[in-house]
Amino acid sequence: MKVFSKNVAGALLLAAGALMLVIGSFQATGFAGEPAKVTVKSKRGDVTFDHATHAKDIKCDKCHHNFKGGDKSKPKCGECHKAAKEGDTPSSKDAYHASCQKCHKAEKAKKADTKAPTLCNDCHKK
Ligand code: HEC
Ligand code: HEC
Ligand code: HEC
Ligand code: HEC
Repeated sequence: MKVFSKNVAGALLLAAGALMLVIGSFQATGFAGEPAKVTVKSKRGDVTFDHATHAKDIKCDKCHHNFKGGDKSKPKCGECHKAAKEGDTPSSKDAYHASCQKCHKAEKAKKADTKAPTLCNDCHKK
């Protein structure tokens, strides 16, 4: 009986270990779910936005244009968009400004009191 309960305890420990590994790898790949808040580091001042609210109203591939066709392996813009333009790939600044600012300016034109920031320091916080 003693031996049996030891085995059960061992099996439970193993199961718990396997579960932690699974959860760990979910977190590493981001597949456990999208982030709630995202902070994009910037020398101009870090930019934090509510990813969950954006993702509720806006289609994923409107921002993650590389998800078109179903490949979601690179959710980080910075994996391709670097500090400087590289070949066809626009710089991080140009890509983000074209994506974020373009929509916010359009929102502002539609609705003057929108909470979508268009001023530099409303996005970039030191
Ligand atoms: C308004 C634009 C926008 C929308 C809409 C959006 N995302 Fe994101 N998402 C981002 C940005 C920007 C990041 C941060 C990228 C970085 O750190 O380089 C991000 C990060 C992520 C990450 C986390 C990457 C990591 O490992 O930290 C995942 C996963 C993700 N998005 C999935 C989704 C999915 C799925 C949807 C649709 C349900 C979606 N996103 C909608 C802009 C957006
Ligand atoms: C797998 C690499 C890759 C990832 C990841 C990626 N991009 Fe891009 N992006 C490109 C390339 C290459 C181009 C230029 C060719 C094209 O337009 O598809 C581009 C172009 C763009 C453009 C058009 C720029 C312009 O001036 O018209 C925007 C905007 C953009 N990306 C924003 C983003 C945002 C925001 C993210 C993250 C949410 C992101 N990209 C993630 C590779 C990537
Ligand atoms: C397709 C349109 C669209 C795109 C693309 C978009 N936004 Fe927004 N954003 C909005 C709207 C609409 C609001 C206002 C929501 C509200 O009224 O509460 C907003 C609000 C915000 C806010 C203030 C509320 C919050 O989330 O903290 C920040 C900061 C912000 N956006 C940053 C970004 C950044 C950074 C990007 C690019 C990665 C981005 N947005 C891309 C439409 C967009
Ligand atoms: C909607 C949010 C938003 C607004 C508004 C905005 N930016 Fe940005 N900006 C970003 C994001 C996101 C990045 C990408 C992070 C990076 O690569 O530094 C960025 C990048 C930059 C960079 C590149 C920093 C570096 O060291 O490479 C500069 C410079 C910059 N922005 C200046 C400005 C100025 C000036 C304004 C006002 C005219 C402005 N931004 C308005 C979101 C915004």
